[in-house]
Amino acid sequence: VQRCALGLIGWGTVGGGVLDLLARDGAVIRQRCGLDLAVTRIVTRDPGRARTQSAAGATVGTDLRLILDDPAIGTVIHLVGGTDVARDICLACIAAGKHVVTANKAMLAVHGDAIFAAAAAKGVGIAFEAAVAGAIPVIAAVRDGLVASRITGISAILNGTCNYILTRMEVDELSYTDALAEAQRLGYAEADPTIDVDGTDTAHKLALLARIAFTARITMADIRIEGIQNISFQDIESARTMGARIKLIAAARQRPEGLELRVAPTLVPYEHPLADVSRNFNGIHIDSVAAGATLLVGQGAGALPTASAVLADVVDVVTGRYQLTSSRFNFFTTTAPLRLLPETEEVTSSYARFQVPDKPGILAGITNLLSQHGVSVQSIHQGQPDDRQCATIEVVTHPLPGGSFLTAIEAIDRQGLTIKPTVTLRRL
Ligand SMILES: NC(=O)c1ccc[n+]([C@@H]2O[C@H](COP(=O)([O-])OP(=O)(O)OC[C@H]3O[C@@H](n4cnc5c(N)ncnc54)[C@H](OP(=O)(O)O)[C@@H]3O)[C@@H](O)[C@H]2O)c1
Repeated sequence: VQRCALGLIGWGTVGGGVLDLLARDGAVIRQRCGLDLAVTRIVTRDPGRARTQSAAGATVGTDLRLILDDPAIGTVIHLVGGTDVARDICLACIAAGKHVVTANKAMLAVHGDAIFAAAAAKGVGIAFEAAVAGAIPVIAAVRDGLVASRITGISAILNGTCNYILTRMEVDELSYTDALAEAQRLGYAEADPTIDVDGTDTAHKLALLARIAFTARITMADIRIEGIQNISFQDIESARTMGARIKLIAAARQRPEGLELRVAPTLVPYEHPLADVSRNFNGIHIDSVAAGATLLVGQGAGALPTASAVLADVVDVVTGRYQLTSSRFNFFTTTAPLRLLPETEEVTSSYARFQVPDKPGILAGITNLLSQHGVSVQSIHQGQPDDRQCATIEVVTHPLPGGSFLTAIEAIDRQGLTIKPTVTLRRL
């Protein structure tokens, strides 16, 4: 059995999960691969804070040097959130010649280029399985398992908070506000859930995943991002009548003309495998040429699930396996030009809900304008008028370039055929 001393920076939710998991199941790792993993030093902002785990004999302090200056520690578990301070800590570890295992997707999505360049120059590894979809080994699946299969598209549910809120709204008819409050109570959402619900967290993960899947330099500015804050009960109901659920979908698709990248609330038909990924679960659906469709589902967050991915990376790094392969991969060093498709060139099936006055000729006016703009309609449904003589018309299109759809909707709203701005959603 090989003993292996580890440094831990950031004793919060996931840091605590790592200590818990080692205490509970360190023996499993020992049995499986002959490694005795021990966190021997912990650096955290507030060592005195009440915690449920014990430090298990580790020295605990606030000074980074405690870990950086310890020659026995070759690998650091980096579990500090945020971007800039986290990057500085990560770069200090690299400069000290330590391998880094991190769960911090925001830091890597924003500062990944600088961090990976520094790591390559120093000959150390940066492992980040836990940064995307928690316990689900999706980074390893895309990077290693599918290395021989050209990836053409990824559709994924990558934020448990959003998925939980949307599930509760659909299944239990909770309002958005009540579902969010419950997600916070259960510990799925942060006290400040902004970057979960506005789609930023999902985009951080998509940026990392798409880099690996398409060997492309992808930054946050390359991803169109829409959150779930404006999803109404009526949207959920409309989805239901069309045999679909609304999910916050991270999508990347390689087309001959370029790459499509977006995060947006999307109608997922019941027959699509992601429709059944509910509550706080995450799911990733990958299309690739040789392997066909691959689906991964599991716990995308939480102390123990995330710690499981962190320790898998630690095993990869301390056995040397990670450095052997990661030094060959180009996803953080590639400078190949990337052609991103603008929204007008994205090809998707779309949904529109028009609020119209209950007058003759309106339906004909809408279908005329749609066909004038080359929008081919797959289904159309007109609801009963309400007591204010207002009716809804819902349309689902065949897959078509976003440009023609958006201009058609603009024209319909501009011509006064509708009494409210038209609601649109994409459809998987
Ligand atoms: N929670 C999850 O389910 C989950 C899942 C996947 C990925 N992640 C990612 O994992 C990372 C950690 O998440 P978390 O949920 O564990 O966050 P957290 O509970 O806020 O823990 C982070 C800890 O970092 C410590 N810290 C902050 N600034 C520090 C500094 N300058 N030096 C040393 N320690 C510092 C804080 O320690 P004190 O308590 O001592 O102040 C805090 O407890 C984040 O990047 C997050 O996005 C989390």
